Formats: sequence, structure tokens, C-alpha cells
Amino acid sequence: MEAKRPSESRTTMTDTVLPSETNPLNNLFGGELLARMDRAASITARRHSRRIAVTASVNHVAFNRSIPLGSVVTVEASISRAFRTSMEIVIDVWTEDRFSGERTKANEAIYTFVAVDDIGIPTEVPPVLPETELEQLRFEAALRRKQLSLVLAGKMNPHDATELKALFQED
Ligand SMILES: CC(C)(COP(=O)(O)OP(=O)(O)OC[C@H]1O[C@@H](n2cnc3c(N)ncnc32)[C@H](O)[C@@H]1OP(=O)(O)O)[C@@H](O)C(=O)NCCC(=O)NCCS
Repeated sequence: MEAKRPSESRTTMTDTVLPSETNPLNNLFGGELLARMDRAASITARRHSRRIAVTASVNHVAFNRSIPLGSVVTVEASISRAFRTSMEIVIDVWTEDRFSGERTKANEAIYTFVAVDDIGIPTEVPPVLPETELEQLRFEAALRRKQLSLVLAGKMNPHDATELKALFQED
């Protein structure tokens, strides 16, 4: 299969925060942000694979900054790496200053999607060809994260997680 660049499947969704989407402190409710991130990431996974893509795991979420009512929120989902049937999608969340328009990174998350056929059987996806320095860094770290996710899910023996073990081994 021919490799595809992250820019070919990147998905950007901009929306505001309505009163029905906030918690008692008038900040965006975490579950609402998770849903927005899942939606953008699933579109990226579908664009990359041109298949139905299901969420297999949420590997990392950091709610670093609260997002107040009325904020303009941009969710940007990019594929970092594809394996055989799974794809790691990194989601960056930005808010926009009301007056200057300057963007501030508010949150980030990493989801894993699996491409499936019409009856839900995992199916192969094209490899990713990273272009920028950031894309290259995310590509290289993705295998470690995949192994960690599989170990935590009880789907991989920690002894087989070579990339993870290498992190803790001294030369
Ligand atoms: C995701 C799903 C298709 C995986 O099925 P499975 O039987 O584990 O399939 P496999 O073992 O062949 O794994 C498929 C791929 O997913 C990866 N994978 C499975 N669980 C994973 C996890 N927790 N973290 C990271 N990758 C995972 C495997 O490593 C494999 O990747 P690869 O082919 O690129 O090497 C299946 O669990 C499913 O359909 N889940 C429900 C998905 C869904 O409905 N999501 C919406 C939320 S409810």
C-alpha cells in the first residue's frame, strides 16, 4: 500500500462552548471535549484508511487548561503512525483569544483507531510518511505508546515490549 502524509488526513474542527456543554464552574465539560476529539480523530482515521474506523483505545488525555463558556475551540487531529490495522491519532486542542485571535494550546490526547471491514474484521491500512520534525518525533514515539497500551490492556506480555524496555535500560 502506498504511504500517505499526515497532511492528507488532518482534520480541524472549530466550534464554540454553549451553556449546555459546561460543568458547574462554567467550563467545558470533559466528556464533551472527549466526544469532540473522538469525532475529529475518527474522521482522520477514516480519511487515512478510507475504511470504517473504530476507537480501540484512548491512550492519553491531558486536560491542562479549563475552557470557559463562550470560548472558540479548535480540535486538530493528525495521524502519527499506522501499524498493520491500527492507527495512532494525536489530537491537539486550541483556544482562541477573543480580542487578539492568538491561539493557546489547551489540551491534547492520543487515540488508537482500528480500520475494519463491513463486518468489523480489522483490515490493513496504508503506512504513514512523516514530513515535519514534529511528525517525525510523534512517528518514532508511537511504537512505544502502542506497546504500553497493549501491555496495560493485558494484550501484550511486558517481556515482549522491547521498545518500552529499551527506555529503562542503561547502555
Ligand atoms: C478494536 C477492535 C476492532 C480490535 O479487535 P481485536 O480482536 O483486538 O483485533 P486484533 O487483535 O487483530 O487487533 C487489531 C489491532 O488493534 C490493535 N489494538 C487492539 N487493542 C489495542 C489497544 N488497547 N491499544 C492499542 N492497540 C490496540 C492491535 O495491536 C492491532 O493492531 P495492528 O494490526 O496495527 O498491529 C475490537 O476490539 C472492537 O471492535 N472494539 C470495539 C470498538 C468500538 O466499538 N469502539 C467505539 C467505542 S464503544
